[in-house]
Amino acid sequence: MSTAFLITGATGLIGFRILLTTLAAGHKVRYTARSEDKARIISSNPAVRKLAPGDRLSSVVIPDFAAEGAFDSALEGITHVIHVGAPVPMPHYDPVAQVFEPTVKISAGLLASALKTPSVQRIVITSSIVSNVGLTPPPTAVFASTRVPLPPVPSTFDNVFEAYVMAKMVEVHNSDEFVRTQNPSFTVSHVVPGYTIGRNELVHDAAMMQTQNSSNNFMMVGMLGGELPMAIHGCFAHIDDVAETHLRVALLDPKAEGPTDFGIATEVDYATIFDHVEEAFPKAVAAGVFKRGKVPTLPTKYDSSDAKRLLGGKLKSFKEAVVDVAGQYLEQLGIEKE
Ligand SMILES: NC(=O)c1ccc[n+]([C@@H]2O[C@H](COP(=O)([O-])OP(=O)(O)OC[C@H]3O[C@@H](n4cnc5c(N)ncnc54)[C@H](OP(=O)(O)O)[C@@H]3O)[C@@H](O)[C@H]2O)c1
Repeated sequence: MSTAFLITGATGLIGFRILLTTLAAGHKVRYTARSEDKARIISSNPAVRKLAPGDRLSSVVIPDFAAEGAFDSALEGITHVIHVGAPVPMPHYDPVAQVFEPTVKISAGLLASALKTPSVQRIVITSSIVSNVGLTPPPTAVFASTRVPLPPVPSTFDNVFEAYVMAKMVEVHNSDEFVRTQNPSFTVSHVVPGYTIGRNELVHDAAMMQTQNSSNNFMMVGMLGGELPMAIHGCFAHIDDVAETHLRVALLDPKAEGPTDFGIATEVDYATIFDHVEEAFPKAVAAGVFKRGKVPTLPTKYDSSDAKRLLGGKLKSFKEAVVDVAGQYLEQLGIEKE
């Protein structure tokens, strides 16, 4: 049977890049969106049109991903699923209703729908390194296969980030449990990125670069003179590597020996953001377009050698990621990249 992908979360930074990578590799892709308007934005995006996918690309609107049976019809005829669609923690979100519950419920609902769909062979779920390190990173490196013992799940959280970490921890535990107890005919893997940085083809103005750019928002703080009030995990992944890893993991032979989950996170000190920008774009720095900001780093050790092997031995550098974001910002401002 030829491949047919379902991608959730294609209206966001990581999912959209996976959509482009999967289409560029010649596959048939159906993606989910929460509204017709959002689907139109995706299908009409210039980066999609450039690939001229024709009838290889289709969309399905699911207003509530967490509703019972939400994915039943979306999965018909699908062989491979890449499930990216889950919230990233925004300060104004309700920690339980908008972060914890959707993360856990959507993934469980998707797996339950897939159990009823014989065409599904493989499911890849996007997790996060916080599922392996928990709230406080341990002193030694962790792996994608590391599972933090689950504490009792509280009914409320102090903040959205705590809700996010707990949601990601519970999601991997629940998916492991699902595979152990349901014996599905498909296989399940997690791809586990660090802070994901790089070009975002969904952005179309300079303001969006800073506000609707997921994890890239933090890079913008570091290069536009802002100050982040809290430290973030010091492990990053270049978006090109993140997208490629998802596709390669999805296409792995499910019967092959080897790891199930693949972490992709390289240690970094965010104090270097501005140094990379200064080196790549000295004229824009001299003109005051970029200014040194403060993004505190929470030192985190992570071993992503499995993903590195999968990608042929090399991961893209933090410098490349920062320069890609800064370069896209200059493009949006209409300033030459010198
Ligand atoms: N960015 C990172 O640094 C990073 C690192 C590790 C893991 N991840 C994981 O990668 C995934 C995507 O992150 P991203 O950076 O691409 O974030 P993003 O740009 O904010 O995109 C999030 C995507 O998930 C969808 N989504 C969010 N809440 C939803 C809900 N309640 N119901 C249905 N769909 C929902 C969004 O749909 P709408 O457009 O409709 O809102 C969007 O398509 C998340 O699982 C995140 O935890 C991200």
